[in-house]
Amino acid sequence: MHTELTQRQYDEVIAPHYDDDPQSVIGDSLDRAVSQLIQHFGGQSVKQLSVFDIGVGTGMFLAEFRRSTEFDIRPFGIDLSEKMIDIALDKVPDLMAEVGTAERMEDYFSGESFDLISTHFVTGFVPLQALAPKIRERLQPDGIWSIVGGTKAGFSASQRKANSKLIRWLFGGRRLQVDDLVCNPADLHEVETTLRQHGFKICQSEVFTPQLYFADFDEFLDFAYWGGWLTPFVESMGLHKCRPLVRALLNRLVFPMKDHHNIAIVVAQKIG
Ligand SMILES: C[S@@+](CC[C@H](N)C(=O)[O-])C[C@H]1O[C@@H](n2cnc3c(N)ncnc32)[C@H](O)[C@@H]1O
Repeated sequence: MHTELTQRQYDEVIAPHYDDDPQSVIGDSLDRAVSQLIQHFGGQSVKQLSVFDIGVGTGMFLAEFRRSTEFDIRPFGIDLSEKMIDIALDKVPDLMAEVGTAERMEDYFSGESFDLISTHFVTGFVPLQALAPKIRERLQPDGIWSIVGGTKAGFSASQRKANSKLIRWLFGGRRLQVDDLVCNPADLHEVETTLRQHGFKICQSEVFTPQLYFADFDEFLDFAYWGGWLTPFVESMGLHKCRPLVRALLNRLVFPMKDHHNIAIVVAQKIG
């Protein structure tokens, strides 16, 4: 969904700021995913792992996974954004990377099948149901899928504020409909059910609900716009372009603001 928009936003807005990771939600989520994988592979005598990171971004996961384990990792990745891949290549110089879409993952690295496939913060862009059969196809027998993904239970305070009368008056009456712009699963239960329906066994799962605090509008924009978390919403409302008077009003009436995200983190294994 919205592929060209996503590509432009990552190439032109988000890539140079992504690794700043304000509020540390990406780093903390990926740490949890790495811990799950260490626990999963811990008892096994795995030495070499071929890993395909779909929506590899700036390579944070692959770099962290390699730092935290002794596996001999053969890293592969695809991403819509060339700029994100450029940054990933600095961190993971042996990354075999292609600019491409998850929807066409079968077109890349043909002949390879993987021990581990990761989709981290990608299920907002490509529905889990569309990814599952393709990922199954690209995994070795007993291969592992590591999923990290925001759910619809996240950012409830931001959505409530965005749909308040005052904000709608300031921004031309538009309503913020999260579901129009991202396709996150409803909750962990939906993630687990979808995986089981597509021939996966759940090995580990948790919900991570990081708390967020925005002292003022600039802190909110650092996270939501430049950091990539709510870039389509911010652009659709024109928040990133608002005039000094509107900023001052927002700082007085909306901030400081607390919110939280809701992130499903799962390790699943291909069965059958
Ligand atoms: C929130 S970032 C996550 C990056 C990385 N997985 C991480 O956890 O840090 C989402 C990434 O997915 C990429 N992306 C979005 N839609 C995609 C698609 N349809 N196919 C491939 N990559 C996509 C974006 O370009 C971006 O780099």
